[in-house]
Amino acid sequence: MAGRQRELAMCFLAEPTDVNYGGKVHGGVVMKWIDQAGYAAAVGWSGHYCVTVAVGGIRFVAPIRTSELVSVVAKLVHTGTSSMHFAVEVSARDPIGGPSRLCTHCVIVFVALDAVEGKPTPVPAWSPDSDDDRRLSDYATQVMALSKGIEQTVARYRDADLSPP
Ligand SMILES: CC(C)(COP(=O)(O)OP(=O)(O)OC[C@H]1O[C@@H](n2cnc3c(N)ncnc32)[C@H](O)[C@@H]1OP(=O)(O)O)[C@@H](O)C(=O)NCCC(=O)NCCS
Repeated sequence: MAGRQRELAMCFLAEPTDVNYGGKVHGGVVMKWIDQAGYAAAVGWSGHYCVTVAVGGIRFVAPIRTSELVSVVAKLVHTGTSSMHFAVEVSARDPIGGPSRLCTHCVIVFVALDAVEGKPTPVPAWSPDSDDDRRLSDYATQVMALSKGIEQTVARYRDADLSPP
């Protein structure tokens, strides 16, 4: 739909409270930033309250250190009926200047909920219209299919009560 924002960027400063004993930002803090940027993008696209349903293919490529300027970019790459898949890239650099480096990437999926019953509700459709977007959309779909495969394996394991004594 015209006027909807497909991509959203948020910036954070890595604070001393965000880092672990080695001086690197906790993975959980990075995941919170990803969730926040994805949430803002999902609500903006759908016009509804949204919840995170899954994260796939998360990879911490390079560490982020305290005082660095962190940029989190969430880009819509697939819509289902109520779900929105975002490819997220987290980069960091010295706030004084210099090159930015990719630190983390993943695919995160949100579901829009209706305000009355809190049930999944349809979102405006997005479809790729360039080769790059088609590639990103295929990538997100494959990552989430693999992720669902892992979920099914875990469910079979739990159903069979094969957990160690
Ligand atoms: C998200 C939630 C509402 C979905 O409920 P549900 O009964 O599974 O609903 P549905 O089966 O209709 O699935 C809704 C959508 O989620 C998608 N979905 C479900 N599991 C998924 C998974 N593992 N990966 C990707 N998408 C998934 C479905 O494909 C469907 O998408 P579509 O409408 O585009 O086809 C429910 O699971 C929930 O409330 N989860 C907790 C969310 C939460 O607390 N998040 C953390 C804080 S925000």
